[in-house]
Amino acid sequence: MSGTVPISGAKNACLPVLAACLLTEEKCSVSNAPDLKDVATMMEIISGFGRKVTRKGGRIEIASGAVKNPTAEYKLVSTMRASICVLGPLIAKYGKAKVSFPGGCVIGPRPIDLHLKGLRALGADIRIEEGYIIARAKKLKGARIYLGGHFGSSVLATANILMAAVLAEGETIIEDAACEPEVADLQNFLIAMGAEIEGKGTPTIKVRGVKRLKGADYSVIPDRIETGTYMIAAVMTGSNLFLKGARSGHNIALIDKLEDCGGVIDEKEDGIEVSGPGRRMRATDITTLTYPGFPTDLQAQMMSLMTVCDGISVITEKIYPERFIHISELNRMGAEIILEGSTAIIKGVKKLSGAPVMASDLRASAALVLAGLVADGRTEISRIYHLDRGYERIEEKLSAVGAGIKRIKE
Ligand code: EPZ
Repeated sequence: MSGTVPISGAKNACLPVLAACLLTEEKCSVSNAPDLKDVATMMEIISGFGRKVTRKGGRIEIASGAVKNPTAEYKLVSTMRASICVLGPLIAKYGKAKVSFPGGCVIGPRPIDLHLKGLRALGADIRIEEGYIIARAKKLKGARIYLGGHFGSSVLATANILMAAVLAEGETIIEDAACEPEVADLQNFLIAMGAEIEGKGTPTIKVRGVKRLKGADYSVIPDRIETGTYMIAAVMTGSNLFLKGARSGHNIALIDKLEDCGGVIDEKEDGIEVSGPGRRMRATDITTLTYPGFPTDLQAQMMSLMTVCDGISVITEKIYPERFIHISELNRMGAEIILEGSTAIIKGVKKLSGAPVMASDLRASAALVLAGLVADGRTEISRIYHLDRGYERIEEKLSAVGAGIKRIKE
């Protein structure tokens, strides 16, 4: 492949930013919003509360108005766990919320204890009834909250507590806060709305609660996981791609590993240029960690690359120890991967062989697309609705730079 791939706005920044619009009754607009299934789900949840939400191109507008019914139903929450991040803003602004308890997830258990612990520390009364989280609070009060869990910090728990704290009375200190760029982006949006926050992008966030927030116009950051997926695609196919709008600073851990394998990465002012090594790639090792460590959301895609490296690669998954459902599909394509606990051992093969495979979750689907790009013959991926949750027009972006990929059916 060769050419330019435009990078879309970050799904995982856009979702909490949309939820944060509930903290004000003034008009807000969010631009660079990717046109994805998950973003559409969040828009539907917010309109279900009684706010008018419209999209024009990459810009989503939430009209001024009050929430009439602060209930997020099972039907929508069960399709997207990120729906949980409406909880914080609703309790902070309206003193009540009813949000369906998110169900199971194919990437492994995803508890919400840290979300509930943080909101309770701010004074919310929370009960679980008939599959719903029912939260009430007369007035939230600032507190010092340690948000570290078994697997380190939590991205959406930090977002939820932060959104609740900005309207709480007094000062809140969040310790072991997530430092992911999407959390820092949310902090920038909240500051644009008038919130008082210190410690952006660090593990200690200090919030001084304000009485009210105003509407804001905001543009979300480029998607570092989409960027990373195309970086891996370029290296493993020996291509040269320019990823327009990508920020290299958000993908330091990935860049380090791709260079290990022989990839050439050139950081430009308006994007990243990535090339493959022009020979077989070398094996490498990764351990997924919280930011700035190697992101779990690029683990599956990196595994695809490792299947065709020279030598043995090792992946240790420290965020979601069961996030390995893609292994069996990659092995169907001729990969040699074994799993020992939460460590995968990948013995590089000369070639993958195209096969019918099934997407199981968002990033696993992207891994199968990447494997299909280097496999001999034809790969047919079913259940691609998973891909549409997080990749904007992936088949169009890839075919525009020369990949043989097309969508056969929705
Ligand atoms: C965010 O999910 C992302 N989603 C995920 O992206 C991403 O995989 C994940 O962060 C980790 O980076 C969005 O931003 C919308 P966590 P989140 O809470 O916030 C445990 C994708 O592919 N934990 O940071 O829900 C949890 O089980 C998706 O785009 C608790 O123990 O993840 C995990 O082991 C998938 N208790 C670890 O913390 C809690 O209350 C980190 O999860 C919450 C989390």
